[in-house]
Amino acid sequence: MSYRSLLSILDLTPGEVNQLLDAAASYLPRIEAGGFKDATLKGYSALLLFYEASTRTRSSFELAGKMLGMDTINIGAKGSSVEKGETVRDTALTLNAMHHNVVVMRHEAPDAVALFARYFDRAVLNAGSGRGQHPTQALLDALPLRQAGVLQRSKRIAIVGDLKHSRVMRSNLQLLTSFGLDVVLVAPPTLMPEGWEGLKPAYWAADPTGYGEVSWSTDFDRVLPGLDAVMMLRVQRERMGDAHITNTDEYSKLYGLSRRRLKLLPESAVILHPGPVNRGVEVGEDVFADPRCLINDQVTSGVALRSALLCWSCGKLEGTDGQA
Ligand code: NCD
Repeated sequence: MSYRSLLSILDLTPGEVNQLLDAAASYLPRIEAGGFKDATLKGYSALLLFYEASTRTRSSFELAGKMLGMDTINIGAKGSSVEKGETVRDTALTLNAMHHNVVVMRHEAPDAVALFARYFDRAVLNAGSGRGQHPTQALLDALPLRQAGVLQRSKRIAIVGDLKHSRVMRSNLQLLTSFGLDVVLVAPPTLMPEGWEGLKPAYWAADPTGYGEVSWSTDFDRVLPGLDAVMMLRVQRERMGDAHITNTDEYSKLYGLSRRRLKLLPESAVILHPGPVNRGVEVGEDVFADPRCLINDQVTSGVALRSALLCWSCGKLEGTDGQA
């Protein structure tokens, strides 16, 4: 049986991304109708190993696993042997000896999931590694973008907010530019990641000349009218050791998606946010009532995408290598 791990977006070929999105799209109607039950992964186990807080990611993986017939087991940092000083390597070796089929892992250190995967023989799915990567979020974001006709060359998306600490931005930037979208990063200088110019992968897409451009602006008002999509990100206070923003009101005035700014965004554009949302900071109340808002669609898409991904990781997705 062949297993596949997903540590970063670059572990997938562009063809596989499309295959996963197609599979997720086919799960979507069944999930919207209240869920499904099949036996595709009956007899398989998924261990959800979350060292950081999560609502959407963990529960959507668990729901997807259960709908596919998997046995799902939850472990958090609290109550695990990590509290007793066990290392990531020893945790991986221990869980490997239990023969779990899939480990879905979130950790605050950017390299911890990749380290774990070195000592685990079956599938490891990265559910968020510090400020490093969050590949399943980028994939689930791509689904509503594709359905809105935005996932294509020359479309323009802004990713706005705390980019310095954002794994969501890093994975999305790789995925979106490879589909040929131009990405405008909008953030104050203190929340821009160092070396942002180098974040675009140089080699991954089937047609490297088709990569979208990446630029940076501090002027949200000027960027808004030219957009096909805007992705708002949370101000991640838990990752800020020092003062990156002087005050939340000031930040919100300059970078929040307010009622006034909604008017600057084209009618045809769409609004994304991975959640959790700080209402009144990066998005105003009006965003949720706006017909362009796809925030809830992203959550549903998460269940569909993770259903497809669990099948893929166990070689059970039709048309992929190692199909069972
Ligand atoms: C994000 C995460 O944890 O990286 N949320 C998520 O997975 N839906 C973004 C965030 O925490 O702001």
